[in-house]
Amino acid sequence: MAFLFKSDPTRGQIWRAAFARQVPEVEFRTWPEVGDAADIRYLAAWTVTRELMESLPNLEVLFSVGAGVDQLDLTQVPPHVRVVRMLDPGLTESMVEFVCLSVLSLHRDLPHYRQAQGEQRWAPLVPAAATRRRVGVMGLGNLGRASLAALRPLGFQLSGWSRSGAAVEGVRTYAGADAMPAFLGACDILVCLLPLTGETRGILCRKSFALLPRGAAIINVGRGGHLVEDDLIPALEAGQLSAAIIDVLNVEPAPADHPFWRHPRIWLTPHVASRTRDDSSADVLIANIVRHKAGLAMAGEVDRDRGY
Ligand code: NAP
Ligand code: GLV
Repeated sequence: MAFLFKSDPTRGQIWRAAFARQVPEVEFRTWPEVGDAADIRYLAAWTVTRELMESLPNLEVLFSVGAGVDQLDLTQVPPHVRVVRMLDPGLTESMVEFVCLSVLSLHRDLPHYRQAQGEQRWAPLVPAAATRRRVGVMGLGNLGRASLAALRPLGFQLSGWSRSGAAVEGVRTYAGADAMPAFLGACDILVCLLPLTGETRGILCRKSFALLPRGAAIINVGRGGHLVEDDLIPALEAGQLSAAIIDVLNVEPAPADHPFWRHPRIWLTPHVASRTRDDSSADVLIANIVRHKAGLAMAGEVDRDRGY
């Protein structure tokens, strides 16, 4: 029985050592040194190709090395293969840091001060109280909930939107498409932490921006496909949005002529809001292999019909 690793080589060394300590009976192989492909039962990867999938006849579980799975293109993955996303506590911690940093930056008008500094303008604004600032999170999964829990002690008015609208302590929750206008209408700062699926692609667009209060700001830490990129600058120029923190793009890295590079009200970061941590993720993945071998449910298994 073998595990095939197809990801960052440094992470591979750490995972290999963890496998040797914790599950020595599972042989650790690193792509492209597949060996006898018939031995491979488990694969961990960020992306896969049809060719790779077809070359692994006995694959049982595909582990995403990230929290999201859209980049795996599940149409290439045979239906009997179980797909599991990464529930790494280290990744969650980093996302919480990034969301808090971004929300506080927008709350305290840092895009305004950065632009003013560039223009050598001393332009103080009266800071709003956090208790008057409405922060809404789209996606109340692992990352959305953890981010809201960290924002809560700062005093913001918090809301969250998801398919089910499941309750979150201290957060006003909204469920499904029908509740989206009410949810958006009460967000001064909107955070996108949705998975990218057929239903959520393009959800940050001219139409949804128009439902936000005038001058709202957005943070996209989901996927580039959530944002209709052509709609962002017009909304900023019209004053419907005041600023945007964009960590993910449709095409990464951003091409040199991408208009977001130079817009003063867009802060662009290179898909760094969070990343799987090499050490903590090894333990999470190995625990799932142990559970799978024992016939138990794995943490983070994806519902392939829902796409997340
Ligand atoms: P998750 O636990 O699967 O949670 C997904 C949430 O989105 C759930 O609350 C779900 O609703 C909601 N949702 C899904 N489809 C919806 C729809 N059509 N309408 C309304 N709500 C919907 O995901 P997660 O672990 O929190 O991760 C979220 C995403 O973050 C990942 O998929 C990935 O794309 C992104 N991410 C980005 C970075 C980065 O560095 N920028 C890093 C890690 C992850 P229910 O609760 O009702 O099911
Ligand atoms: C990163 O974007 C992830 O999905 O883990």
